[in-house]
Amino acid sequence: MEKLVITGPSRLSGEVSISGAKNSVLAILSGTLLVNGVCRIENIPDISDVDVIIDIIKSLGAKVSRPDSHSVLVDSTVIASTAPDYELVRRIRGSYYLIGSLLSRFHKAEIAMPGGCNFGTRPIDQHIKGFKALGASVDDSRGVIKAEASHLSGANIYLDKVSVGATINIMLASCLADGVTVIENAAREPHIVDMANFLNAMGANIRGAGTNTVKIKGVKEMRGGSYQIIPDQIEAGTFMIAAAATGGDVLIKNVIPKHMESLTAKLIEVGAKVTELDDAIRVEGTDHLRATNVLTMPYPGFPTDLQPQMVALLTKAQGVSVMVEGVWDNRFQYTDELIRMGAKINAAGKMATIESVPELYGAPVKATDLRGGAAVVIAGLMASGITEVTNTVFIDRGYERFEDKLRSLGAKIERVEE
Ligand code: UD1
Repeated sequence: MEKLVITGPSRLSGEVSISGAKNSVLAILSGTLLVNGVCRIENIPDISDVDVIIDIIKSLGAKVSRPDSHSVLVDSTVIASTAPDYELVRRIRGSYYLIGSLLSRFHKAEIAMPGGCNFGTRPIDQHIKGFKALGASVDDSRGVIKAEASHLSGANIYLDKVSVGATINIMLASCLADGVTVIENAAREPHIVDMANFLNAMGANIRGAGTNTVKIKGVKEMRGGSYQIIPDQIEAGTFMIAAAATGGDVLIKNVIPKHMESLTAKLIEVGAKVTELDDAIRVEGTDHLRATNVLTMPYPGFPTDLQPQMVALLTKAQGVSVMVEGVWDNRFQYTDELIRMGAKINAAGKMATIESVPELYGAPVKATDLRGGAAVVIAGLMASGITEVTNTVFIDRGYERFEDKLRSLGAKIERVEE
């Protein structure tokens, strides 16, 4: 078991480059199963969730090679199984995208209910509603989802809830269906657009991704090609928040500033200076952060996946801040860890009230989940003394060389064996 040991406080300064988007890569690598040919994917983030999804698609028969740590070649011409290993699938949330891909190309899929971070109930009823509308029968009893169809036909599908996962899964399932599928009330996250661009590059016909109406015209076959994944909005946001929270001055490179607008607005509200460049953002912090209120929402709202990191910053923002979680039922488990470090947070249900403290103190804490892990690392950079973060496996699921990138910005952070 490993832990991160942080000696704070630190002011981050310098330049950091953002890796490819985690939530895109999981969908895109699952989507390679739709393709009767070879896909070359570039800007792959080197994170453990990618290793898991690659193991799963290999176990189904895809030939996968990694010419370097940021490129993957997948040849899914011959796929031998539509029932991936139960234990592997349960390790990551993104494995539910295999259902859409396998159903679309092979008309059947049998997959364990996916795992991932625990934010309360994580239903997939909207995914299933979409598969059924396309003509599949779906049985989701006993922890396994079995989907089957003799024929898939385009349909109009209205999502009762704006869901990233359901939007992408229905896009996948309808790529090879007969006729046109229309998804109404679709999610608009950057990785939805990335996914549609990838599928179109492989031969699909998808229009409207990034708006709330996505149209998929089924094609007979997808033949492969090359694609480069967009930068990770959440990794970029994590570094922006870390720069502001530590009173630092960081140039965050390889970002799409448009994707960061909700966070940029909030960082300016708390007193940081944010300068947008073509494909980079500079964040300059201050010693006098001000309190603010935040509500997480689907894109273009403030991302739920930046909520824990922002709460870490708000622990020292003068006044009382309120964070309302608008996406998940239970996403404040990590606040107990911040309280161990001296933060004053009262979290109940979907709301947390954060009263500023003059100082945080280093303490032994754990990563309760991926982004909660990033939040305690940021708090460790803000705190005086030594913070030890255990459960680093959560952080490694979504951040490439997190401690190396922070160290290059001047943080005193080491990974050690427990
Ligand atoms: C994805 C991200 C996750 C992020 C979330 C919201 C991946 C692998 N994960 O998760 O990091 O926090 O988007 O930006 O990309 N819902 C339903 N029924 C459904 C599906 C969703 O009620 O069938 C609800 C969920 O309970 C939640 C909301 O819709 O309250 C949003 O969920 P969704 O956008 O689907 O999240 P994920 O795709 O699972």
